[in-house]
Amino acid sequence: MTRKLLFILPFASFVLLGVEAGSAAEVEQVFKFYCAQCHGLDGDGKGPNVTKDFPVSPRNFTSAAEMNKLSDADVRNVILDGGPALSKSPMMPPWSKTLSAEDVDALIKYLRKLCQCEGKKG
Ligand code: HEC
Repeated sequence: MTRKLLFILPFASFVLLGVEAGSAAEVEQVFKFYCAQCHGLDGDGKGPNVTKDFPVSPRNFTSAAEMNKLSDADVRNVILDGGPALSKSPMMPPWSKTLSAEDVDALIKYLRKLCQCEGKKG
């Protein structure tokens, strides 16, 4: 009995944590729905919406070199308030009215997973 419990516990806590931070599957859906049109399904910045006349290209989230220039706070600001929040292009829309704080937290983690980087500190 105890043995069985010990086996189950790690999974149970994993599930609980997962729900708190927005589950992996869920954040992937959010990303695909709201971000992939520009940033690409794989986050490489080559979404189907992006044409030659886009004045700037959407950030390539898989590039650690690019994503390390941004702190998590920068990423949060730009997701909530759009490109101009960081003096970037208004082609990056603001999402504060669309996404919940949990969604944004989960997205930041998701982007850090894509770039496999931790970002600028502070
Ligand atoms: C309509 C197209 C479009 C959509 C949809 C979009 N973005 Fe962007 N995003 C851009 C563009 C263009 C840039 C580059 C802005 C620049 O460099 O001036 C950008 C840049 C960013 C950056 C980096 C900003 C920086 O300082 O380098 C982040 C982070 C980001 N987007 C996150 C997201 C997330 C998360 C979503 C989904 C909730 C999303 N974007 C949806 C177009 C889009």
